Amino acid sequence: MRGQQAFVIGGFVRDRYLRRPSTDIDIMVTGSGIDIASELGKRLKTNVTVFKNFGTAMLRYQGMEVEFVGARKESYRAESRKPIVEDGTLADDQLRRDFTINALAWSLNKENYGELIDPFGGMEDLENCIIRTPCDPDRTFSDDPLRMMRAVRFASQLGFDIEERTFDAIARNKERIKIVSKERIATELNKIVLSPRPSIGFELLDLTGLLPLVFPEMAALKGVEKRGVHAHKDNFVHTLKVLDNVALTSDDLWLRWAAILHDIGKPQTKGYDPKVGWTFHGHEVVGSNMVPAIFRALRLPLNEKMKFVRKLVFLHLRPIVLSEEEVTDSAVRRLLFEAGDDIEALMTLCEADITSGIESKVKRYLRNFAIVRRKLAEIEEKDRVRNFQPPVTGELIMETYGIGPCREVGTIKSQIKEAILDGRIGNDYGQAYALMEEIAAGLGLKKK
Ligand code: CTP
Repeated sequence: MRGQQAFVIGGFVRDRYLRRPSTDIDIMVTGSGIDIASELGKRLKTNVTVFKNFGTAMLRYQGMEVEFVGARKESYRAESRKPIVEDGTLADDQLRRDFTINALAWSLNKENYGELIDPFGGMEDLENCIIRTPCDPDRTFSDDPLRMMRAVRFASQLGFDIEERTFDAIARNKERIKIVSKERIATELNKIVLSPRPSIGFELLDLTGLLPLVFPEMAALKGVEKRGVHAHKDNFVHTLKVLDNVALTSDDLWLRWAAILHDIGKPQTKGYDPKVGWTFHGHEVVGSNMVPAIFRALRLPLNEKMKFVRKLVFLHLRPIVLSEEEVTDSAVRRLLFEAGDDIEALMTLCEADITSGIESKVKRYLRNFAIVRRKLAEIEEKDRVRNFQPPVTGELIMETYGIGPCREVGTIKSQIKEAILDGRIGNDYGQAYALMEEIAAGLGLKKK
């Protein structure tokens, strides 16, 4: 078209060789990407969305999102503060991309249609599972420091290694991450969290020195302190094990975040008692209270997802405590009441939290958890406390005794709830009504 050249480039090409599904295709053209997309849109009779500021245009075709970008000589990314220079050649453009595996291109031109153009050994790096920058890594990372996070993210997502010079450049340039927006960092962090073995990404963030800059609370989990015979475990290492364990059974991003944050209150609550060793009293309370601020700082959503994570952090010790003692109906009923529909997620987190190296200990815990799970199912079947609705409402109490909203109404309601959770009465209207009459009489209330 108009003597312009076009190439499929970037993630789509990479993912085809890796056999990963992808629905985004980037087409790089010499000259203007917008012009060529508009003309193609006309021929295919499909709408073209133009992003003038970014110098790009997009159209949808057969379920694919096809984006057209002019070849760039200077900094590749449009979000970058630098100007977009569109008059590059294919070679210029490839050189300014982040990694060799992302610089692979297929020609769409008549003379060599379908040919792979790979000037930086991207195919070899793909085969050897290596993340490497096409040009001097200091240059690549100064063009866009987010790429340091991307290197870690790709390593984690794909199970690749970061080549030594590239790695050293990240460690050298790490402070530059501060100029990148929190939102872009969060996108990469979430992709790390969702990788098959997320510990790879977090270990790399730690080794490169990025971790304290992007997620200081997690960096604070690191380290072991020893006094006499007492040493506590490294909470960073433990957290990563829990996270990997959860990742084996769940793809839920927020359950994975709960795993990351379950012990986040430990550094603040650490204490030493010569008789028992290291203690972290109340770390689940401190930790759950830290969740909103961490979500805000990381630009994670402050909605019900945050509340879910907060709740799981708060409750994460309960099933363990429960399984250490005799598993009573009332303790199970209370747990079910507090966890509600998140009980399954909580049990998954708690099972993942057992990272002891002593096999007999692990077996004992898992056996006890199986009992807890069985009891949970039994009690839910019998008492339906998961989404507890009080069988006697405040309105009914006020109506029966001819009173307005007052402390007595609250007292009666909460005593009925406690009685149900303790198993003293069943979760039904008749028994709850009888108890209401008993409590009301004790409070000197008379029916109207
Ligand atoms: N790119 C880059 N520098 C960045 C971001 C992107 O050089 N900071 C280039 C890479 O060539 C990349 C392409 O732009 O392959 C497309 O970027 P993007 O869609 O963000 O990533 P993908 O590589 O497609 O990977 P994913 O879809 O997993 O994010």
